[in-house]
Amino acid sequence: MPHELAVINCGQLVTLAGPARPRVGPELRELSLIADGALLVSDDRITRVGTRATIEPLIGGECEVVDAGGRVVMPGFVDAHTHPVFAGTRVNEFEERTQGTTYQEIAARGGGIQATVRATREATLAELVANGKRYASWFLRTGTTTVEAKSGYGLTLADELKILRAIKQLNDETPLRYVPTFLGAHDIPPEYKARRADYIKLLVAEMLPSVAREKLAEFCDVFCEAKVFTSDESRQILVAARSHGLGLRLHADQLTLSGGAQLAAELQTTTADHLEHADAEGIRALKSAGVQPVLLPGSVYALGSSRYPAAREMIDAGLAVVLATDFNPGSSPTPSMTMILSLAATHLKLVPAEAITAATVNAAYTLNRGHLVGSLEAEKIADFVIHDCDDYRELAYFFGLEHPWQVYASGRLVYERAQSRQNRERPDASVNDGALGFRQRTASWRGSLRRYR
Ligand code: NIG
Ligand code: FE
Repeated sequence: MPHELAVINCGQLVTLAGPARPRVGPELRELSLIADGALLVSDDRITRVGTRATIEPLIGGECEVVDAGGRVVMPGFVDAHTHPVFAGTRVNEFEERTQGTTYQEIAARGGGIQATVRATREATLAELVANGKRYASWFLRTGTTTVEAKSGYGLTLADELKILRAIKQLNDETPLRYVPTFLGAHDIPPEYKARRADYIKLLVAEMLPSVAREKLAEFCDVFCEAKVFTSDESRQILVAARSHGLGLRLHADQLTLSGGAQLAAELQTTTADHLEHADAEGIRALKSAGVQPVLLPGSVYALGSSRYPAAREMIDAGLAVVLATDFNPGSSPTPSMTMILSLAATHLKLVPAEAITAATVNAAYTLNRGHLVGSLEAEKIADFVIHDCDDYRELAYFFGLEHPWQVYASGRLVYERAQSRQNRERPDASVNDGALGFRQRTASWRGSLRRYR
């Protein structure tokens, strides 16, 4: 018997139903919201979505019923740019940056990405998976059910494979969905600093073929930046990646205008990410090539910069914008997509509806998952979140807190929060046991999670 689930009494059911493609222009504001909505789930799939009045008569005797208590129900966030597998933290550098040292100065003296590379090379696969499970729990409890996950803190064949295997294991052993990206070109490793062409040869001749052979990545990304990989070097790597069947993404024009947007357009990559320094010409090039921009305001904020990407110009140009966390131990240590919604509203001047579209359905299309996740429609995977608020705009408005009351992945409850508003009708208060419930329900996968707060 399939497991049947009905979610009723959704004050706002934010479906994002619409054309089966990324949304642009005014479409970004169209959430296909159903007031007093309900949805039906069979095993891991959504079967029906509609008003409570149309769905309730269809609920059968065997069906488990969840009363959303008038809350907002929407798709799990799709975080299309994360670096979630690494060892250690960079909290010491963080403290130093508060005193005026810059991210680039720290990188130039061998800290930054290189510091995380040293720690990650020393870690075992099991240790990386244990760390990754802790971060998986953070993504889930903040309402994210799919993440794109980059390697890039190994920079040797063995260490990059170790990270990609950790991502595979995290995908298998946690309820979070991972889409793996090979980012062996995240930095030039110190042992290759004097002979960078040899590292590019290694990437092209050994690393990419191994990653492709073992099917450990769906995408390849490069950090294209004046002091990291030049536009020409990035091109060589991405062209090789494409020949192995990998999709392409690019860290472009993050710290300086480095020709990243132009290269992304030339190669018609799936995404160009960051773009804080992209100019009008770059934006036009992305539009004519059909590249989706992935904007990462968390890294701008956490680096203490005020140079946010020109999101409104991108929307006006007709680009299908995406928002993501860039979760990583250096420039953006946040897993929270609702924090990103807040930054998008305040600094990128997106209205909350645009930000939500960018953080769900548009993001899903960049991962070749647009037919599976990112909206609540029949036949899609039942990844959804019941947020403890009345109006979806509150997700971007009340910031610095966790909104999810319950999080479902593949139709299964994977996180439930303790305290909710008392004035809501709740069908079974005894199951609403917060962190304890999360621990119990996820015991099978969180085994080695070091800490849970
Ligand atoms: O997207 N730009 C390169 N990579 C990351 C930073 C990684 C790190 O600092 O560890 C980013 O911001
Ligand atoms: Fe990044």
